[in-house]
Amino acid sequence: MSPPGSFERLLGAREIVVTCGSGGVGKTTTAAAAAACAAARLGGRVLVLTVDPARRLANALGLEGIGNAERRVPDRAFVDAGVQPTGELWAAMLDTKQSWDALVRRHAPDDATRDQILANPLYRNISGRFVQSHDYIAMERLFELHSSGAYDLIVVDTPPSRNALDFLDAPERMAEFFSSRLLRWLIVPYRSKLVNLASKPFYQVADRVLGSQFLSDIAEFFILFQSMYDGFVERSRAVERLLADRRTTFVIVSTLEAAPAREAEVFAAELRRRRLHLGAMVLNKVLPDYLLDDSGAQVAERLVRDYLWLAEALATTMPEVDGELLARVLHTIGQSFSHFRVVAQRESEQRSELARVPDVLVSVPYFDTDVYDLAGLLRLGERLWV
Ligand SMILES: Nc1ncnc2c1ncn2[C@@H]1O[C@H](COP(=O)(O)OP(=O)(O)O)[C@@H](O)[C@H]1O
Ligand SMILES: [Mg+2]
Repeated sequence: MSPPGSFERLLGAREIVVTCGSGGVGKTTTAAAAAACAAARLGGRVLVLTVDPARRLANALGLEGIGNAERRVPDRAFVDAGVQPTGELWAAMLDTKQSWDALVRRHAPDDATRDQILANPLYRNISGRFVQSHDYIAMERLFELHSSGAYDLIVVDTPPSRNALDFLDAPERMAEFFSSRLLRWLIVPYRSKLVNLASKPFYQVADRVLGSQFLSDIAEFFILFQSMYDGFVERSRAVERLLADRRTTFVIVSTLEAAPAREAEVFAAELRRRRLHLGAMVLNKVLPDYLLDDSGAQVAERLVRDYLWLAEALATTMPEVDGELLARVLHTIGQSFSHFRVVAQRESEQRSELARVPDVLVSVPYFDTDVYDLAGLLRLGERLWV
């Protein structure tokens, strides 16, 4: 285990913390919990940029249905959770469509081009679903929020992708896309005003099949988008530099199940290869240590072996309970304990494997309930801090 307070030191020393890991391991929850605790204990203005908060969590952070805007979580919410915050907690959600529109507004060479792009049916259709658009826009938005200088610390959640590394490549891919031959090749015939699209048999057929405006919409879209090329590429590079900057650190979140743990290792190796800073690894939903105690195992074995006799002994204190049922429950409890113990042992091996990787390693237990409000986040945050 890491020395106490190392997670706190990490957050205190950085301006951007990117949480990453496989889907479902608790990335979003951990990002929100780390930010909430940082606001409560470290002070300053702390922003958590979430991507896909569960509905109840979004509610708790005041994010329901507000698009891209950042919202301050009121101090009252902290006080209700029994904490007097020293700083401010802000929360924002990623709205892909709004972020794309903002990007177009920034990079369009003039107002007419901007309006044409925003009104282009193809753009409107795909800006929410563009390949990699989620990944790219998350990084883009991070860049924008960081540049604003409004926050001392930004904790970023990452989108659930097939591959946990996708968002790292998103800026590069976006730059590649804009400089790609494919794109240039696609728009060459449309560039020249001399070419009359409607006169070409292929386009005539295509437009008849796809709807009359379809191809011209595509052409217009790509030509207009090309006008933003320089801005986009420059920006992608800036985002990449920010991720590699000393002020940025990555926190890998994983459970100790085989698949996510494996992916966490791959991710750590990849961060190293790219010279990105791995600040901490958070092992989430970890089974309690007492399952590893031999004495606990002995109790469980006894339950399984002597359940009939033990049920008889208990029956006098629980006269209202059916004796046979009591015996069965005891037996099942003993067995379940042993099953959990096997899993806990496997987890403990995984943990020692993973412990070799980062400077800071923290374990967070599997709580009885989902983590969906500020009190829950602060409770989880406590476990990151110790
Ligand atoms: N330590 C924990 N104990 C209990 N439930 C947890 C814990 N961490 C996360 N959860 C719950 O697990 C679910 C998935 O968490 P989430 O943060 O959305 O995962 P991800 O962002 O990695 O997909 C949520 O319902 C959350 O409340
Ligand atoms: Mg998530």
